[in-house]
Amino acid sequence: MTSQEIRQQFLDFFKSKEHLIVPSAPIVLKDDPTLMFSNSGMTQFKDYFLGYKEPKAPRIADTQKCLRVSGKHNDLDDVGRDTYHHTMFEMLGNWSFGDYFKKEAIDFAWELLTEVYKIPKENLYVTIFEGDASENLERDQAAYDFWKAHISEDRIINGNKKDNFWEMGESGPCGPCSEIHVDLRSEEEKAKTPGVQLINQDHPQVVEIWNNVFMEFNRKADGTLEKLPAQHVDTGMGFERLCMALQGKKSNYDTDVFTPLIAKVEELSGKKYEGILENEKDIAIRVVVDHIRAVAFAIADGQLPSNGGAGYVIRRILRRAISYSYRFLDMKEPFLYELVAVLKNQMGAFFPEIVKQEKLVTEVIKEEENSFLKTIESGLIRVEKLIQQTISETKKVLPS
Ligand code: ALA
Repeated sequence: MTSQEIRQQFLDFFKSKEHLIVPSAPIVLKDDPTLMFSNSGMTQFKDYFLGYKEPKAPRIADTQKCLRVSGKHNDLDDVGRDTYHHTMFEMLGNWSFGDYFKKEAIDFAWELLTEVYKIPKENLYVTIFEGDASENLERDQAAYDFWKAHISEDRIINGNKKDNFWEMGESGPCGPCSEIHVDLRSEEEKAKTPGVQLINQDHPQVVEIWNNVFMEFNRKADGTLEKLPAQHVDTGMGFERLCMALQGKKSNYDTDVFTPLIAKVEELSGKKYEGILENEKDIAIRVVVDHIRAVAFAIADGQLPSNGGAGYVIRRILRRAISYSYRFLDMKEPFLYELVAVLKNQMGAFFPEIVKQEKLVTEVIKEEENSFLKTIESGLIRVEKLIQQTISETKKVLPS
């Protein structure tokens, strides 16, 4: 199945369960002082949970462009160094606003994963919230009981507040959550170490794919929890990880979400991607194909790189890509802008903003590359001069 088909099947499934399918909100948030970027599918629905606005429908589903590079959810340092974290990623999500709750959310998730996508049941594990005395929160027994109808009890794992109580940010809607993890290792590896021991242990092939949050609280600015006026469901499935699972790959970068971009980088740099974890060239290629998506979509959604706020975050991501390709791919001339056309071909059918803004995005990236490469070059010249100066001064003072 191609990634396009995987995305479509998700939306079709929830449409068949009476969900309204809506487009992704822009990646850049302009009207939320607590957050710069959409960091999950629910950000555009925050006011529905808080009861400030009426939802368009009681059930909604979509795929949301997300960016986790600042604030509470920040994965930037891992990106490129591992095979499954990203700056920008798509989050497939379904929501219930005061409509269905834990049972239906769990039943839908199980049906989609095992009957539609046909992920073998023996590769799946789930987690539930174990409770937290300091917050006066009880164990999520209801979620446990609903999961028991689908999966054996030794695959239902207790999780603490860090992993199983999801919060949008320092304040905002939150609640206990239940995650679904998939074990993509070979049979031989599974025989050596049972998957249950690797849940939430940062194993690249035993990863969380879907989080089901049962929104019941609002974390107020003073840190206390208050009950929301109604109970809601907020879910998020990592699209790129789902593609890895369904396409039988061991890395998100080996799926067709990334392979066309990697092929273009190979063509432009003359360097071959070998998928080695610790290899600097491969890290640089992963950084480049990841970061170009974040930067291109942020610009397409109206956020230009700049010296402050959200614009500065975008500039830093772009500069990280330029710096990695300068150092490890020997790319001394602008080239990242040439990846925008590949991205457009790949994602334009679903995200029309990248088609509409292609020219602007391309020009802005090229301009940024030019100016940062000049800064790098002039910095290097200065360093070289300082080295020469130090050598000659050292020679003068040292006895020959
Ligand atoms: N909002 C939840 C998350 O991002 C689904 O994990």
